Amino acid sequence: MDKFVIYKSTLSGVVKISGSKNTTLPIMAATLLTDQECKISNVPDIMDIRTMIKILEVLGKQVIFDGKTLIIKPTKRESVVAPYRLVRTMRASFCCLGPLIAKRKKAKVSLPGGCVIGVRPVDLHIKGLRELGAEIIIEKGYCIAKAKNLHGKHIYLGGAFGSSVLATANVMMAASLAQGQTIIEYAACEPEVEALGKFLKKMGAQIYGEGTPLIKIDGVKKLEGCEFDIIPDRIEAGTFIAASLITRSPLEIKEVQPLHLTSVIEISKKIGADIVIKDKSIFIKPKSSFKPVNIVTLPYPGFPTDLQAQFMAVLSLVKGVSLITEKIYPDRFMHVAELNRMGANIQRSGPYAIVEGVDKLYGAEVMASDLRASAALVIAGLAAENKTEVFRVYHIDRGYECIEEKLRQVGAKIYREKQ
Ligand code: EPZ
Repeated sequence: MDKFVIYKSTLSGVVKISGSKNTTLPIMAATLLTDQECKISNVPDIMDIRTMIKILEVLGKQVIFDGKTLIIKPTKRESVVAPYRLVRTMRASFCCLGPLIAKRKKAKVSLPGGCVIGVRPVDLHIKGLRELGAEIIIEKGYCIAKAKNLHGKHIYLGGAFGSSVLATANVMMAASLAQGQTIIEYAACEPEVEALGKFLKKMGAQIYGEGTPLIKIDGVKKLEGCEFDIIPDRIEAGTFIAASLITRSPLEIKEVQPLHLTSVIEISKKIGADIVIKDKSIFIKPKSSFKPVNIVTLPYPGFPTDLQAQFMAVLSLVKGVSLITEKIYPDRFMHVAELNRMGANIQRSGPYAIVEGVDKLYGAEVMASDLRASAALVIAGLAAENKTEVFRVYHIDRGYECIEEKLRQVGAKIYREKQ
């Protein structure tokens, strides 16, 4: 196992953002909807992509990945079983369910179970697919489904915490091959869902309104192979914005879609940054003094839950009191205790975290608990006195492409060592 050793750093220069993990994963699942070859470019070379490749291989695809481009081809040996040993390591694999039901008429996909960021139910996925006509039972931890034919339906997909990204993806994919028209009301509007809609359209699906809360899908009989370029990772970009803020260092973050980061840019300006946007670049220049802010995580276009931990690290060094309200995953606060071990003053109460800014953070040995919490600890380490060691960095390897190399290129003192 690896760890990161990090020292206080000043950054400057340009960071190039990779393709989006959360866009690539459902798009990989969508290739199950066709018997033809798909070519997907600008794919990040991270662990979660490698896991999804294994799942597609188990399901009978041949996958070629050169670290940038995926070529996904059909084979003769098809399976409909996505086993627990793979699904439990990555929840996104649950979005194979919709495509398997629609294309292969049956599926046996392990239920993913809870994870450190919360309970994470899949009731909305199951509700949506049942409404399209799939018969689904839960047996021995598996979701077992069959469907002779799927039929379009008007489906309301809102849940207790609002819309669901991957439930929208699952239903949208299945509805693409259903008979008649499906309307998804309260669909997730995240750029990743919009990109999936565009991918499906390239395959020949008839979809309207992707990226809005109301998506219409006219089912077609067959979907074709296609080529697709993955959009930039807005969460990776936001993480580097947080790194710039916490180290009080200017950065250019290039090859991003700034429109996907409006809420994050607004919050960064409120905290105290001058931000200039030019085409696909964000130039961020922290001011000499920062102000505390209140952040509420919400579905897109609200502030993303996937950047809550990183911005908590930033606010831990901002004089005054900031309030963070987590509305998507009320238990996503594993990083609080670790940041406090570095000298932060954060109190959690239910879905709230009260962050009282301190003058300094101090390096410590800290434990990464999930992908974004690890990113928060890494950037906290860049601003902390002395040496910080972040253990269990496999969490960060799941979702960030070469994070330490990208940080080192802009001057960070971060080194990967054996634990
Ligand atoms: C996606 O997860 C992302 N994962 C997550 O990224 C991200 O945190 C999340 O969306 C929210 O933006 C991928 O895209 C692979 P949801 P997803 O269904 O789709 C509740 C990261 O760090 N809900 O939109 O699984 C749920 O509990 C991660 O990259 C139900 O109640 O999230 C949550 O409160 C982790 N029933 C809310 O909806 C359901 O059936 C939104 O979750 C499904 C979800």
